[in-house]
Amino acid sequence: MAMKIVFATNNAHKLSEVQAVLGPSFELVTPRMCGVAEDIPEDQPTLEGNALQKARYVRARTGLDCFADDTGLEVEALDGAPGVHSARYATDGHDFAANNRLLLANLAGKENRRARFRTVIALLVGEEEHLFEGIVEGRILDHACGTEGFGYDPLFVPDGYDRTFAEMSADEKNAVSHRGRAVRKLSEFLSRYEAAKSSNG
Ligand code: IMP
Repeated sequence: MAMKIVFATNNAHKLSEVQAVLGPSFELVTPRMCGVAEDIPEDQPTLEGNALQKARYVRARTGLDCFADDTGLEVEALDGAPGVHSARYATDGHDFAANNRLLLANLAGKENRRARFRTVIALLVGEEEHLFEGIVEGRILDHACGTEGFGYDPLFVPDGYDRTFAEMSADEKNAVSHRGRAVRKLSEFLSRYEAAKSSNG
């Protein structure tokens, strides 16, 4: 039987990316499906802090095993910005187009286009808390390319590729992406955790 676990997000793109990596052994449940309809707070100064804050919030309201992720785009020439502020870089909301325009404006004329995505996942399972990290290195183009994915995907080309994440299928992106890497670590941990639980009766 699939292990049921809450993924503390209401972002449908993320949900399908993560479900694809975890596969059918895990059944992801959203906070809304458990009656948590409000926005989940994420006002910490680090990705680790935000991931833990979101997971603890949902755990406290549902009592269920749960994980949350937080991601930042860290651009070398901008001293790591937008980083933990990636969602609200240009505006208060999650306005992907405005964020991308601001990023291009801030990088105008800069030769160094190096950047990386970093995802941190916080898992609350039983009495335990665990963190998993995934990083992908790459560069920022000077114009948007592609229509797949979300967020900064149309501007980000991972190392070893000549296409942006927004020009890749979900499977291709997951194979190299920050979130794919972090989720595979989560998946390996959960598989071991479930196996240990069943062997302990
Ligand atoms: P979140 O905290 O994980 O929701 O991510 C913060 C922001 O980073 C999002 O609003 C997106 O703009 C951006 N972001 C997160 N993951 C990705 C991704 O896989 N591709 C492109 N942008 C992303």
